[in-house]
Formats: sequence, structure tokens, C-alpha cells
Amino acid sequence: MKEISLNLLDIAQNSVSAGATLIELTVRESQAEDIVLMSVADNGKGMSPEFLARVTDPFTTTRTTRPVGMGLPLLKMEAEMTGGGLEIKSELGRGTTVTATFRRSHIDTPPLGDLKGTVVTLVQGSPDIDFVYRRETDLGQFVLSTREMREQLGGVPLDEPEVLAWIGEYIEENEQSLQGE
Ligand SMILES: Nc1ncnc2c1ncn2[C@@H]1O[C@H](COP(=O)(O)OP(=O)(O)O)[C@@H](O)[C@H]1O
Ligand SMILES: [Mg+2]
Repeated sequence: MKEISLNLLDIAQNSVSAGATLIELTVRESQAEDIVLMSVADNGKGMSPEFLARVTDPFTTTRTTRPVGMGLPLLKMEAEMTGGGLEIKSELGRGTTVTATFRRSHIDTPPLGDLKGTVVTLVQGSPDIDFVYRRETDLGQFVLSTREMREQLGGVPLDEPEVLAWIGEYIEENEQSLQGE
């Protein structure tokens, strides 16, 4: 995929399908370390060791609508192409963590894309799931936690347009300060 944000959306959708109630998204970018890292950690149904061993093989999937799953195999290929890689940790009944690293200076490392759009789309699509979005650069970091927001909102659903707009603005403002603007 041509943007990190689209990969993040795709991998997080696996967590939604796996029945997660908490999904933690991390996007870290460091010029000093020459790395772009995206990770998705969930508390969904997890994968057995046997399944996990085959999951980056495009001929493995539990999907019935399409014969092959391409999300993880493609991400692995794209990350490795830049000198990075894909790591998946999973435990049946506990959850899964998928971490992709890219070498930042590599020509084939995709741009970050619309991270704000990805987070807002996920919250809008699954307002009952708790999302924690962590964004880090060499200049600092910020965190958005819908679990904390929920306490402040006292019953107002996260997919209310005003709430989604607030999430978008929060991410945009914090992103700007990470870019030194
Ligand atoms: N976070 C996850 N938790 C549990 N199972 C997962 C997770 N991510 C992927 N899987 C399993 O791995 C399979 C392959 O995932 P993927 O490569 O994204 O292809 P697809 O989503 O098209 O099936 C999924 O169908 C699912 O069975
Ligand atoms: Mg998928």
C-alpha cells in the first residue's frame, strides 16, 4: 500500500474482526534512528502458534469471501523491501501485536499519509472499541485515548460528529507541534 496510514487501517481492521475491545495504534518516526514504525496491539481472539507460523504466507486465511489474505504478507514484503521487517506476536484468547518497521531513508518507504483520517475512520466504524493512538517523533509524542475521552463524555457516543471532529482536531494540532510548526 502506498501510505503507512492505509496499512495501519488495514491491520487495525484485522483486530476489529478478531473481536478486540481495545486496540492500541503506534506510529513512531525517527530521523535519528532512521526508522518508521507502525504497530497495532489488540486484545482480540489471537492466533494459534500453527496459524501464526503460516499467516504471512498468502495462501493462509480464514476469510471465506476471498481465497487468500493479503494484508500481512504484503506488509511484510513492503517492510522488508526497505530493510525493515514485520513482527507478529499472538496468543490464542489473549491478543495480537503486529509491528512493521521501515527504513525511513529508503526510497520505497511509504509516506505516513492521512493518519488522522485512519484514526477517525476506525473510531467512527467501531465506536464501542477503545482506541489508544500513540504518535512519536524525535521532537516528542502525544497520545489519544478514547477510553479517557469516554469518561469525560459521560455517555455521549464516540461516533457523534462533534466528537469525531474533536478527535480530528486534537490529532491535527498535536501533529503540527511534532513537526515543529
Ligand atoms: N489481529 C488479529 N487477531 C486474530 N487473527 C488475526 C489478526 N490479524 C490477522 N489474523 C488472521 O490472519 C488472517 C490473515 O490476515 P490478513 O493477511 O490481513 O488477510 P485478511 O484480513 O484478508 O484475511 C486473517 O484472516 C485472520 O484469520
Ligand atoms: Mg486483513
